[in-house]
Amino acid sequence: MRETVAEIIQFLTLHFGEDFRSYAQGLVERRILERTAQLRLSDAAAYLDLLRSDPEEPCRLVRMLRIRFSSFFRDPLQFELLRSHVIPPMLLQGNGYFRAWSAACAGGEEACSLAIIIDETAKLLNLQTKVQIFATDIAEDALEEGRRGRYAAGSLGGVPLQRLNTYFTPDGGGHRIDPSILSMITYSRHDLLDPHTYAPPESLFGGFDLIACRNFLMYLDPEGYLKVFDNLFRALNQGGILMLGKAETVPERYLPHLDRIFDCGNLYRKKQTGRS
Ligand SMILES: C[S@@+](CC[C@H](N)C(=O)[O-])C[C@H]1O[C@@H](n2cnc3c(N)ncnc32)[C@H](O)[C@@H]1O
Repeated sequence: MRETVAEIIQFLTLHFGEDFRSYAQGLVERRILERTAQLRLSDAAAYLDLLRSDPEEPCRLVRMLRIRFSSFFRDPLQFELLRSHVIPPMLLQGNGYFRAWSAACAGGEEACSLAIIIDETAKLLNLQTKVQIFATDIAEDALEEGRRGRYAAGSLGGVPLQRLNTYFTPDGGGHRIDPSILSMITYSRHDLLDPHTYAPPESLFGGFDLIACRNFLMYLDPEGYLKVFDNLFRALNQGGILMLGKAETVPERYLPHLDRIFDCGNLYRKKQTGRS
C-alpha cells in the first residue's frame, strides 16, 4: 500500500505541478482507500490505473485531499477573545492601517468573520482604520465563492442573529455578505506549499498585523508543517497575531518567539525583538 500511495502522490505532483508530498501520509492513505471503496475497485493499485486513465479522476481525488469545509466564526471563543481583548488595543495603537491574511481561506467564511469583528470594533471606538484582508487559497472555485459573497444557510450556523441582520442580506435560499465587508477582502490564489514565495504576491509590500491559518497545517506532515510555519512567521509583523486551528500547535523552535495570549483560543503574539 505504502509504495502505491507514494506512486499516487508522485503522479499528482507531476500532473498538477504542485507539492502533494507534504500532505500527511495517513490522510492520503485514507482518501485513497475511501475512493477505492466508492469505485468498488480491488485495491489501491487498481485505483492508480484508473487515476492514469480517467482524466477527471485526478481532480476528484485532489478535491478530497484539500478538505474544503469552513464556517463563519468557526471556534467562536477564539473570535470572541480576538474581538474583546486583542483587536481593540491593536486598532487604538495602530497607524490607521490594519492588514490581515486569511491563509487557506476556503470560501471566505474566515476572512468575512475577521472583517466583521474588526468593523464592529472600529465603529465602537469611532476609528477610521483602513482594513485590508488578503484571503488566499489554492482552490480557484473556493476563491470564486468568496468573491461572490453569497453563502448557503449551512455555513451560517455560527453567525449570531444580530450580525446576521447587520452584515447579511437574504438572497434566494442563502445570504449575501454586505458589500462593505466584501470590499475589505482581496481574494487571490496562493499555494502555501510553493517553495518560491512566502506570502501572497499581492501583499508583499509589508507584513501582516494578523494571520489566520487554521485547519490546514493539521493535514501536513511535520516537514510541510514547518515549511509553512516558517513562512507565516516571516510574514507576521512584530507584535502581530497568529490564529491557529484548535488542533494545531506552535513548533518547538518558534516557542521562544511567540507568546500564547490566553490559555485557550490558540492565539499567539509575535514577540518584539527591536529589529524590524
Ligand atoms: C479545512 S479548510 C480550512 C478553511 C478555514 N481556514 C477554516 O478554518 O475554516 C482547508 C483549506 O486549505 C486549502 N488548501 C489545501 N492545500 C492548500 C495549499 N497548498 N495552499 C493553500 N491552500 C490550500 C483548501 O483548498 C481548503 O480551502
